[in-house]
Amino acid sequence: MSKKNRIICGLDVGTTKICMMIARGRPDGSLEVLSTGYANSSGLKKGVVVDLDEAAASIRKAADEAEGKSGVSVDWVTIGAAGDHFQGFNSHGAITIEGNHQEVTAEEMAQVIRAAQSVPIPPDREVIHVLPQEFFLDDHGGIQNPVGLFGSRLDVNIHVVTCQSSLNQNLINAVNRAQMRVKKVVLQQLASAEAVLTRDEKELGTAVIDIGGGTTDIAVFIKNAVQFTKVLPVGGSHFTRDLAVGLQTPMEEAERIKKESGTLLTERILEGETVVVPGMGTRAARSVPRMAVCEILRDRAAELYELVKDQLWKAVENERLIAGIVITGGGSMLDGMLELAEETLGMPVRQGLPLGVQGLTEELSHPVYATSIGLALFGAEEAGYRKRSIGKTNGSPGLFNRILSWAGN
Ligand SMILES: Nc1ncnc2c1ncn2[C@@H]1O[C@H](COP(=O)(O)OP(=O)(O)OP(=O)(O)O)[C@@H](O)[C@H]1O
Ligand SMILES: [Mg+2]
Repeated sequence: MSKKNRIICGLDVGTTKICMMIARGRPDGSLEVLSTGYANSSGLKKGVVVDLDEAAASIRKAADEAEGKSGVSVDWVTIGAAGDHFQGFNSHGAITIEGNHQEVTAEEMAQVIRAAQSVPIPPDREVIHVLPQEFFLDDHGGIQNPVGLFGSRLDVNIHVVTCQSSLNQNLINAVNRAQMRVKKVVLQQLASAEAVLTRDEKELGTAVIDIGGGTTDIAVFIKNAVQFTKVLPVGGSHFTRDLAVGLQTPMEEAERIKKESGTLLTERILEGETVVVPGMGTRAARSVPRMAVCEILRDRAAELYELVKDQLWKAVENERLIAGIVITGGGSMLDGMLELAEETLGMPVRQGLPLGVQGLTEELSHPVYATSIGLALFGAEEAGYRKRSIGKTNGSPGLFNRILSWAGN
């Protein structure tokens, strides 16, 4: 296999699927998708590794597929991680600007960010993201890059994401065991947001909600900065489990029924509509009213959105999310998820499909690809092929260089 230059690889290690995306950075700063690989994940629960060998094997399977399609072998990957051991908090720091002219230098900008980070972190946790939100010079805010500006006191607000070191290391070990090295770990919803949000949405105020298999991951953006992050340990597999328990049917059947017959728009179900539900073990299949099936799903969805609502309330207090909510991840595919979100959260809701790939390929324009596309975008930033957009400190115009094209397989 050839090792091509400017290769970037995003690896979404999800609870239900592993998705690998191999892309190439172009000289103009855009990305070209070369191939994708997909595998059902095993050895992961609620976003964390519970069986190292199984997790490594499913990661390798997705990697083999992506490598086989593009003929590119991958060394370094940017991985997405979730799990409710991830925690986000906001912090503040301030320094005095030295010198005659009191012009802020890049070193002073770094220094004030370090000052904001001087919050004790428990020894079993580590920092994975430090995201500047806003700088202030002599109390004048709204500054995203203070370098070169004059003032005597520099303040910054930042958002910090930490995780439990051992669980993070388990994920890295699983990738290493699959013969790849980890360049960066990115909180999944930040990657998804990178792929699905527009610059305006980030500026005006939007919450991205990535409803995965094992977790629901929230990130709130206001003024083009991350204000809040939270991972809830509930996802689409809980919907499936509820069906399996409530209907007394195997998990695979419950998953199929959810996708084929599930809807939260119960008012649209016709009287007399039924679903054939296979029994457990040797028990016979039976016919169950579709309404009964969908009420189970609706109860779970309503409960999930109540949890989300509590979190959003904490996150934004009186500030409004002017651009509303963007829902992505496989869980957003359940019929009626968007409508119920609008009803429960009282805000406009749209589905988040990866932007920039729309119209290029049907295959990539799907919510389950949001994280892996976002990871490739993060990887491109890390490698310097693309300017930063989240918590940017260099005054870049933000999200404009997305995936440009699909090279096909
Ligand atoms: N058409 C559909 N209708 C209902 N649910 C769906 C549909 N398609 C996918 N799902 C659900 O989406 C979930 C998987 O979503 P996704 O691939 O985003 O999760 P993941 O990234 O593997 O998990 P996580 O992000 O929690 O680690 C599963 O629970 C699956 O049942
Ligand atoms: Mg996911």
